[in-house]
Amino acid sequence: MQPIAASKPKLAQMADSSETMALAVAILCCFLCGNAFLTSSASPDSFLQCLSAMLPSELVYQQSSSGFTSVLESSVQNPKFLTNTTVRPLCIVTASSVPHVQAAVRCGRWHGVRLRVRSGGHDYEGLSYRSVRPEVFAVLDLARLRGVRVVPGEASAWADAGATLGELYYAVGTANPGFLFPGGVCATVGVSGFVSGGGIGLTMRKYGVGGDNVLDARIVNADGDVLDRAAMGEDLFWAIRGGGGESFGVVVAWRLKLSRVPPTVTVANNLRTMEQGVADLLAKWETTILAPSLPADLTIRVALQERHALFQTLYLGRCSDLIRTVGGVFPELGMTAADCNEMSWLRAMAFIYFGNTGTPAEGLLNRTNSLGTYFKSKSDYVRRAVGRAGWESLFQQQLSRNGNMLMILEPHGGAVGGGNTNATSPYPHRRGVLFNIQYGSMWWGEANGTAAAAALGWLDGLYAFMGQYATSNPREAFANYRDLDLGQNVVGRDGVSSYSSGRVWAERYFMGNYRRLAAVKAMVDPSDYFRNEQSIPPLPKTLRH
Ligand SMILES: Cc1cc2nc3c(=O)[nH]c(=O)nc-3n(C[C@H](O)[C@H](O)[C@H](O)COP(=O)(O)OP(=O)(O)OC[C@H]3O[C@@H](n4cnc5c(N)ncnc54)[C@H](O)[C@@H]3O)c2cc1C
Ligand SMILES: *[C@@H]1O[C@H](CO)[C@@H](O)[C@H](O)[C@H]1NC(C)=O
Ligand SMILES: *[C@@H]1O[C@H](CO)[C@@H](O)[C@H](O)[C@H]1NC(C)=O
Ligand SMILES: *[C@@H]1O[C@H](CO)[C@@H](O)[C@H](O)[C@H]1NC(C)=O
Ligand SMILES: *[C@@H]1O[C@H](CO)[C@@H](O)[C@H](O)[C@H]1NC(C)=O
Repeated sequence: MQPIAASKPKLAQMADSSETMALAVAILCCFLCGNAFLTSSASPDSFLQCLSAMLPSELVYQQSSSGFTSVLESSVQNPKFLTNTTVRPLCIVTASSVPHVQAAVRCGRWHGVRLRVRSGGHDYEGLSYRSVRPEVFAVLDLARLRGVRVVPGEASAWADAGATLGELYYAVGTANPGFLFPGGVCATVGVSGFVSGGGIGLTMRKYGVGGDNVLDARIVNADGDVLDRAAMGEDLFWAIRGGGGESFGVVVAWRLKLSRVPPTVTVANNLRTMEQGVADLLAKWETTILAPSLPADLTIRVALQERHALFQTLYLGRCSDLIRTVGGVFPELGMTAADCNEMSWLRAMAFIYFGNTGTPAEGLLNRTNSLGTYFKSKSDYVRRAVGRAGWESLFQQQLSRNGNMLMILEPHGGAVGGGNTNATSPYPHRRGVLFNIQYGSMWWGEANGTAAAAALGWLDGLYAFMGQYATSNPREAFANYRDLDLGQNVVGRDGVSSYSSGRVWAERYFMGNYRRLAAVKAMVDPSDYFRNEQSIPPLPKTLRH
């Protein structure tokens, strides 16, 4: 969810411009004694010496370096984690080549210092650059390793780990028009985090989630070796495409599958209010627009704020076909040709992100963050229609009472990836899922304190209210919308994150795939070097067969 600007984005203020709203939307216990590996053998000084022997000194920023703070903050999306109570890294390694990554991993292993890997920096809990527990760690920042290699006419592209979705879209859209990558809305999200957590977006009904669209990858494992798909094997290759970042090693490059897109696509924004009957519209939307039988070229996601719903449409085709399709199944929306914006897929990605037609596609290359807004996100999945009365009470009892809460509904259409329900990546929320919900609460001015406590209180209330409509046992959640409220790993006396403690949060993100992910972890990183508060723990020997 996005810090859009320092001022509050309000759907209501944009009666004359649903584009502004689209912008708002788009932007949208460690047992210390047990940690043998780190507490007894971590050797920060030797680690730093090792780095200085193996890497050019200008790539390593220690806390005392003048550039440390600006490099640390460079891709942070939420100022919440920049307070003086945040546990900061010992140093930041800004790798610009694969051997730099190998060196950082080897020095880390040898001297007992863990790495937090950072690509786009959008982790909702900041786990790519901060630790919740007091521990010595280094940030391995990959922003300098971000080339994208596209061959005209070829249905694949190599993206280095540090590339953003916007950089990928730009490279594909300019060098290989006629192809798309089915990514998300926010251009500054890293390709690596996006794919590692599954990755949902406006073309997933047709093409599946991000993890379904990876053909090969290069990963630096816990020994510092570089493995491609053939060398890593299909189990690890499966796990890294949706099992969450950090857990299995450092991915340094992805070979992504591109898919054909017509030269002209259509985007439209339709803003509707409570007075105009949003509850009726949503009840119709969730029953018809999500039907698996609907053309997979059509996606209508919805953002809810205060008394408004913004229906955001992406159609992989021309306006006339869109109007005919929507007119047939969802005439109540009242979409007309005047709502259409026809453009290339690349321009459409810029339109949806920036909320206007004026920002050039080059804007997608802008990695600069704006740290104005504090936010907290949570997520849900819905498998049974909420119904008109449910939507009405959501607006009456929750949204209309606090304009700083936002909900984004991402249609899955009953089977993400069209008919391809045999998708081969770990994202588990597929068959039967109507839509994903992202909740966000925004506030301004202080990381914690009165405003923050109020915002978090509202968010908790909204989440509790929605419990009656969301999935249960488990209440599913989306790994990419990381939420530490769901739980954190407990590190056992052996210094390894416990499998059973991880079930609390991981079965919500990964459902039945948690165990298989943990088995992969046990195979590739049994000592749990790559970890954070919500990384996949190794499956214990007693549970392996
Ligand atoms: C404004 C905004 C909009 C968003 N919109 C969407 C959306 O439309 N769809 C969607 O699916 N998600 C969305 N997200 C969530 C986003 O996909 C996740 O936060 C994702 O993890 C971010 O990736 P990153 O590379 O930017 O993050 P980072 O913070 O760099 O990394 C996220 C996690 O992955 C690990 N990691 C990073 N790079 C690597 C690597 N190379 N190898 C191994 N592990 C690595 C990190 O250690 C961390 O645990 C959005 C987030 C924000 C803030
Ligand atoms: C952190 O900042 C607050 C407010 O700015 C200040 O009162 C407090 O002493 C600081 N704490 C540390 C450990 O520096
Ligand atoms: C890049 O984005 C930042 C933050 O949103 C913005 O302040 C800046 O003006 C943008 N730069 C350009 C060149 O568009
Ligand atoms: C999924 O896999 C099953 C078993 O291999 C097969 O029978 C079925 O046809 C597949 N479905 C699709 C949509 O590929
Ligand atoms: C702010 O956060 C710090 C660190 O997590 C915590 O110690 C403090 O109690 C918090 N203050 C408020 C008012 O919540």
